[in-house]
Amino acid sequence: MNPYLTRRTFLGASAAILTLPRFAHAQGLTLTAEPVMAQILPAPDPKTAMLGLNGMTPGPELRAQQGGRLTVRFENRISAPSALHWHGIRIDNAMDGVPGLTQEAVADGTGFDYAFDLPDAGTYWYHSHNRSWEQVEQGLYGPLIVEERNPPQVDHDVTVLIDDWKLEQDGRLIGGFGNMHDFAHAGRMGNFARAIPSISQVSKGDRLRLRLINAATARVFPLVLRGIEGRILALDGMPLSEPRELGEMILAPAQRIDVIVDVTGPVIFDFPTGDEAYELGRITIEGDNTTPITAPITALPAARVAKPSDRPTELSLRMEGGAMGGGHAGDDIWAFNGISGLPDKPFAHFERGETARITLINDTAFPHGIHLHGHHFHEVLADGTPGDLRDTTLVNPGESRDILAVFDNPGKWLLHCHMLGHQASGMKTWVEVA
Ligand code: C2O
Ligand code: CU
Repeated sequence: MNPYLTRRTFLGASAAILTLPRFAHAQGLTLTAEPVMAQILPAPDPKTAMLGLNGMTPGPELRAQQGGRLTVRFENRISAPSALHWHGIRIDNAMDGVPGLTQEAVADGTGFDYAFDLPDAGTYWYHSHNRSWEQVEQGLYGPLIVEERNPPQVDHDVTVLIDDWKLEQDGRLIGGFGNMHDFAHAGRMGNFARAIPSISQVSKGDRLRLRLINAATARVFPLVLRGIEGRILALDGMPLSEPRELGEMILAPAQRIDVIVDVTGPVIFDFPTGDEAYELGRITIEGDNTTPITAPITALPAARVAKPSDRPTELSLRMEGGAMGGGHAGDDIWAFNGISGLPDKPFAHFERGETARITLINDTAFPHGIHLHGHHFHEVLADGTPGDLRDTTLVNPGESRDILAVFDNPGKWLLHCHMLGHQASGMKTWVEVA
C-alpha cells in the first residue's frame, strides 16, 4: 500500500463530501472533452488539472431508458486524438469507440456523432478508448445508466464512482502515465482513493439503489458497505436471477455492482486493508423515513441474452508476460498466446450466433480483469454450468476461468485487459463476428 493511502489521509478526505453531478436526459446531448480543474483532494487542498467532459470529471451521468436510443455528439478539445467507448453496452459495432478497429480517432478540434440503441437496463459507463491508460487516468469517463421500464421502488437511485489518483501533495497528477515499470507490474496505482456518490445525504430507513462503478485504471477494489442491509441485484449491468447476500465485494477495474439496501446508519464505503479499513466515502443521514418501503427486495427483470449452446467452440487464451516470471514470445511486456498487441487477423472468427467457451489462463504474477466488447459472457462455474453474466472478469495469478458467450453481435470486438497499462503494453486481441 502506498504510504499516502492511509487512514489519516482518508479521514481528512471524508470531511469534504464530493458528489457526482446528476444529469437527466441523454438525448441530443453534446459531450465536450476539455481540460478541467477538479477538486479531487478535499477542499481547501488545491484542485487538480485534469481532463473532463462538459467541464467536469467524472463526466456527467447519462441516463436513458431501456429500449431507447442514445444520441451523443462528442466534441474533442483536449489537444490530442480521442474517442468514447460505451463500456458494457451490447452496441452497434460502428459506435463502439475503438480507434484502429471500429473508427478513426477523433482529432482535436473535431467531433463524432454516437447514436445507438440500448437493449439492456443496467449500470454502465463511458470512457476514452484512445491512449486510455492516460486519458482515463486524467479523467475522461462518466457513468451511463440505462433505466428499467419499471424500475424497482427505491427512495434514491445513487451512482457511486470509485477511483484512485496518483497525486502530488499539491494536488498535481503525477505524470509518467506510460511508465514501463507500472505497466510490467500491477499498473498505475493511485495514492488517493475515493468513492463518489451522486447524493450526499439520505434519511434513516430510506431504501437506496447503489450503482457501484470501479473507474480505476488498475486497482482492484475490495469494498465493504456499512450502515445498510440489503442484497446484490446485478453485476456489470446484468441482473442476477437470485439477489445475493452482501458481504465483502470485489470490483476489478471497469466492473459494476448494483445493490438495493435499506439505510440503518451513515452509509460508509470501506476499503478493507489488512487490520484497518480505509473509508472511501460516505452518505450521511438526517432524520427518519417514517414511511419506509417494506416490500421484499426481489430480482430485477432478466436480461434478454441468448442462451448458450451446449456444444460450444472451445478456445483458450493464455495471459503471459510482465515482471516476476511469465515469459512469452510476444514483442511487448504482455501477450495473449505469445502475441502482443492487436494482430492483423482476429484471435477468433465466429459465425453470428455461435457459442464459444474461452479458457482464460493467467500465467502471470498479477491479476487481470479481462473485458469483452459488445457482448456479455457467462463465467463458467466449477461444475461446468453457466454462472454470472459479466462483461469483465477478474482472473487472479495462477487461476484460469472459462467464459461462455453467444457471439451474436456482428462486428470487430476487442478482448483485452482492463488494467489499462496492460492493454497498452500488449494484453489485447480481438474477435470477429460475421
Ligand atoms: Cu472499458 Cu475496451 O473498455
Ligand atoms: Cu492485465
